[in-house]
Amino acid sequence: VEFPVTVALQELLREKRAQVERHLSATLKPESGLPGSLLEAMRYSLLAPGKRLRPILTLLAFDASGGDGLEPWPAACAVEMVHVYSLIHDDLPAMDDDDLRRGQPTCHKKFGEALAILAGDALLTRAFQVLAESYSSLTGAMCCRDLALAAGGAGMVGGQVDDLAWEDAQADRSPELSELVGIHARKTGALITASLRLGAIVAHAGNPPEALLRRLDGYGRCLGQAFQIVDDLLDVEGDAGQAGKAVGKDAERGKLTYPRLLGVDGSRERAQQLGAEARQYLAEFGQTADPLRELVAFVLHRDH
Ligand code: IPE
Ligand code: IPE
Ligand code: MG
Ligand code: MG
Ligand code: MG
Repeated sequence: VEFPVTVALQELLREKRAQVERHLSATLKPESGLPGSLLEAMRYSLLAPGKRLRPILTLLAFDASGGDGLEPWPAACAVEMVHVYSLIHDDLPAMDDDDLRRGQPTCHKKFGEALAILAGDALLTRAFQVLAESYSSLTGAMCCRDLALAAGGAGMVGGQVDDLAWEDAQADRSPELSELVGIHARKTGALITASLRLGAIVAHAGNPPEALLRRLDGYGRCLGQAFQIVDDLLDVEGDAGQAGKAVGKDAERGKLTYPRLLGVDGSRERAQQLGAEARQYLAEFGQTADPLRELVAFVLHRDH
């Protein structure tokens, strides 16, 4: 194993995950005008046991950027809300049509399609409300812009459109690796990179140095690609009980994936390379970036 997952990292992740979940829960409370059924569906998906990778990236990028204090929490909650909205919609019958997510029935299985769609809508919009309410106008606007760019039509949503377009319709066309890289960069990489950027933006109160953002972007681009390669591998080799979601569905649906293009071994090798490349982008950082360096191992070796 090139990068081992240390016990220290596992402990750090456990602690951060618990903190993230406390903040997420506190952020979504009953309020006037918010139907109880909608709140229940939002909390059901948001608080289900996820890895919390994206909010943890925000917290670790904040630390690596020299931030201190409590400021990164709203940004961390916002990126997780956008992520969970994307999962709810990704699982819908019109998209990947999945019944299991994070080890429990998907939002639409539990609450019906209409409420699941609306719970996703409400989580997406709440993310921007949290950013706008929690930060100064400069920091808030910059966070909103970067998160919107990452989540929107030229980012995650665009990647999802192209991911779906590859199902059956284009199965007869032989895909290029560059197309796959482009799909993964948007459907998964964009939000991962934005999670890091938000940490740096908040640490620098809306004035992050360009060089800092460039390095985090490079790290995030490689980490995001590696993360989605491992997701594709888990769909081939993983265990549904362990993964908390169905496996074996990508091939069945004709998805364009790394294992399909490079095979299992080639995909794993590519993920390792990207992990090493991700770490190179952190070369100029000091010890405060050690958790980001170590996190690469977690992304490569995760089983769910
Ligand atoms: C799943 O994301 C969707 C992808 C982009 C591959 P995660 O694997 O981070 O899911 P959770 O948040 O831990 O459930
Ligand atoms: C999902 O990719 C990416 C987003 C949710 C934006 P997948 O469709 O591969 O994710 P899983 O495997 O369902 O978690
Ligand atoms: Mg999908
Ligand atoms: Mg899916
Ligand atoms: Mg997948």
